[in-house]
Amino acid sequence: MDKMWSGRFSASASSLLDEFNASIMYDRKLYREDIEGSVAHATMLAKQGILTGDELTQITDGLNQVRSEIESGEFEWKISDEDLHMGIEKRLTAIIGDAGKKLHTARSRNDQVAVDFRRYVIRKNSEIVEAVKLLMNEIIVVADRHTETLIPGMTHLQHAQPINFAFHLGAYLSMFKRDIERFESSAERNNISPLGCAALAGTPHNVDRGMTAELLGFDSVSVNCLDTVSDRDFALEILFNISTMMMHISRLSEELVMWSSYEFGFVELSDEYSTGSSIMPQKKNPDVPELLRGKTGRVYGSLMGLLTVMKGLPLAYNKDTQEDKEGVFDSIETAEISLEILKEAIKTMEVKDYNMESACAIGHLSATDLADYLVEKCDIPFREAHFITGRAVAKGEELKVDLSKMDFKYLKEIDARIDEDVMEYLGLRHSMNARTSEGGTATTRTLEQLKYFKNYLGA
Ligand code: ARG
Repeated sequence: MDKMWSGRFSASASSLLDEFNASIMYDRKLYREDIEGSVAHATMLAKQGILTGDELTQITDGLNQVRSEIESGEFEWKISDEDLHMGIEKRLTAIIGDAGKKLHTARSRNDQVAVDFRRYVIRKNSEIVEAVKLLMNEIIVVADRHTETLIPGMTHLQHAQPINFAFHLGAYLSMFKRDIERFESSAERNNISPLGCAALAGTPHNVDRGMTAELLGFDSVSVNCLDTVSDRDFALEILFNISTMMMHISRLSEELVMWSSYEFGFVELSDEYSTGSSIMPQKKNPDVPELLRGKTGRVYGSLMGLLTVMKGLPLAYNKDTQEDKEGVFDSIETAEISLEILKEAIKTMEVKDYNMESACAIGHLSATDLADYLVEKCDIPFREAHFITGRAVAKGEELKVDLSKMDFKYLKEIDARIDEDVMEYLGLRHSMNARTSEGGTATTRTLEQLKYFKNYLGA
């Protein structure tokens, strides 16, 4: 009968229940937030005259001792204590005696866990933002070197129009910037203190919720206690934010996998971030981007898991909610290591710009430029220009020559209105640099975009 809640029970909990019910083996990750929350709560109780100054000192000293015991590895985490909140409180009371028993006045584990988990998630939102920024910086270093490197721009994985490699990378910079904005707005929206909500209905004790909110770095106090102790939107938001970011990481990873193949040969990952085969001695495998792509799946799983846990819960706290933590912890750890390793893989990879450029020589990447030429120079309606260009492409296929390299005489045969200056328009670099509309691939526009991202990152 050593449970803190054992008063109304006459038999001890079975060890099977302990094993099933406990969260202490994973929620102990929140020990910092839990102890800080308790110190803030006790400080407020003392200011309100609910605890004496002496009791407050004992509690804070005791909690500091618990904290160092945890950090030195001395602390004994026991499954029978159920969760970190009770494990810590029990140890505190063992150290300081009766004063420890007063700490839980005007508080419940329901608001306590909401405080701890919310603060943890908010802190992680900000830490992930910093890691995304480091990744973006590394992408910018590569992009800076390749604002003139031609690469086939694709749709449907088919050659479409020539672009430059920095512009291609700029698409990912845009995605990662939006990811950062999502993490930031979640942190801002959810920075609201649950402390003082107690079990569900508030407390008759004269608490000062504003004071604990301020001590814990929250922006404000939650409005409705019933909602606050059962709300896990903040956890769902970080799972969604990580999922979306991992989806972006996964798309880039997919490209890195393709680009590492002999068929593309656009990049070669460094030896440090590649692996070999146990049977085929020649292999150099892009395990890093493959695993990044794969890990995206487990993060989605956690998002779907928690959405499902929450969907049928009546107000307010239900034990189901304890299932909120492991998926979030796992997703955060996955995000952290993924960002770090992707950054390193990008930093150390070789960009084979010559292969990117030679890949542009097939697939008639400048066909749209011929159509644009017919519109601009010959005043031909676009639809008709499209048709004429299609004929030119068919001729190229027949001659097995790319449109950009086709002998002018064939073009003249197809439409007499075409002049020799067309050959300049069909040049691949010309085609890339012709796309000067805002947000376009022309090197001048790409440079503008890189400057925009550098400004954003404060670089
Ligand atoms: N370990 C619990 C959790 O993670 C803490 C809250 C428990 N509250 C309760 N009334 N059983 O959700």
